[in-house]
Amino acid sequence: MKSICLIIGAGAGIGGHVGKRFAREGYHVVLCRRSDADGLETLVKEIEGDGGSVEGRLLNIVDENAIEGLVLDIEKNTGPIEVVVHNIGAQIGNRRLTDTPLKTFELGWRLSCFSLFRLAYAVLPIMAERGKGTLLVTSSTASRRGNAGQHSHAAAMGGRRMLCQSLNAEFASQNVHVAHIIIDGAVDAPDTLGKMLGTEAFERLRQEIGREDGLMLPEHIADTYFHIAHQHRSVWTHELDLRSFSDEAWWNHAVSVKF
Ligand SMILES: NC(=O)c1ccc[n+]([C@@H]2O[C@H](COP(=O)([O-])OP(=O)(O)OC[C@H]3O[C@@H](n4cnc5c(N)ncnc54)[C@H](OP(=O)(O)O)[C@@H]3O)[C@@H](O)[C@H]2O)c1
Repeated sequence: MKSICLIIGAGAGIGGHVGKRFAREGYHVVLCRRSDADGLETLVKEIEGDGGSVEGRLLNIVDENAIEGLVLDIEKNTGPIEVVVHNIGAQIGNRRLTDTPLKTFELGWRLSCFSLFRLAYAVLPIMAERGKGTLLVTSSTASRRGNAGQHSHAAAMGGRRMLCQSLNAEFASQNVHVAHIIIDGAVDAPDTLGKMLGTEAFERLRQEIGREDGLMLPEHIADTYFHIAHQHRSVWTHELDLRSFSDEAWWNHAVSVKF
């Protein structure tokens, strides 16, 4: 039986490329995304075309029982989940406090923080029982600092970072590895950044800095995910940050946001 890698949030950027990487290494990959059936089918076909083992599921993780049902179904009908990747963001662009409705703030928390709690609740005890497993959590600069216009995003991502540390404190000793991976920059991700900026602005960004590796390239981000999931436990990474060579680290970077 193949090892299973479950990816929650699999678009054409990080999620899809992490899926491709694990499939290339012999995993059976389960790709989940919310709404784009064609995009999901494209990813599945690409992985199958490469000889990989893959299946796709459409689900909205904020729906009641979506995550819990998915984990149970895979464990019961497909096999044990060895690696799970939580790859859901909650970026809504820069908004003043009073342009951030309560519902928007709450949804950001549900997407990026509560969904991780639910995923961990569903899968980590099973992994602990088996005595092994890995949870990789994609994160962002906002998990380290608040900023103008980032009320919802930074609060949700900061909470998620603390959750990762708490999960590690409980589960590392049971041979379950949790890693919080900070993506400190813009990713060449058409389904997320691309949709937020709009096609034209995203293509311009790709032309201007993408070719110079100023955009973080998800196929290379995926190498790090695979490496972390296969570290010897005497040297586990619990948190790391990645950024492009031409970008400034978040702690050096003065951001001035104009509303
Ligand atoms: N892109 C960036 O510039 C950037 C920068 C820093 C950090 N990050 C982090 O990177 C991660 C995302 O990776 P990515 O940007 O490369 O995107 P990606 O892997 O290309 O796509 C992520 C996918 O998540 C799915 N998703 C969103 N909400 C969902 C929900 N409620 N239920 C199920 N699926 C849902 C979307 O599916 P649908 O398209 O079907 O709706 C989307 O395609 C996030 O953790 C984010 O914080 C990204």
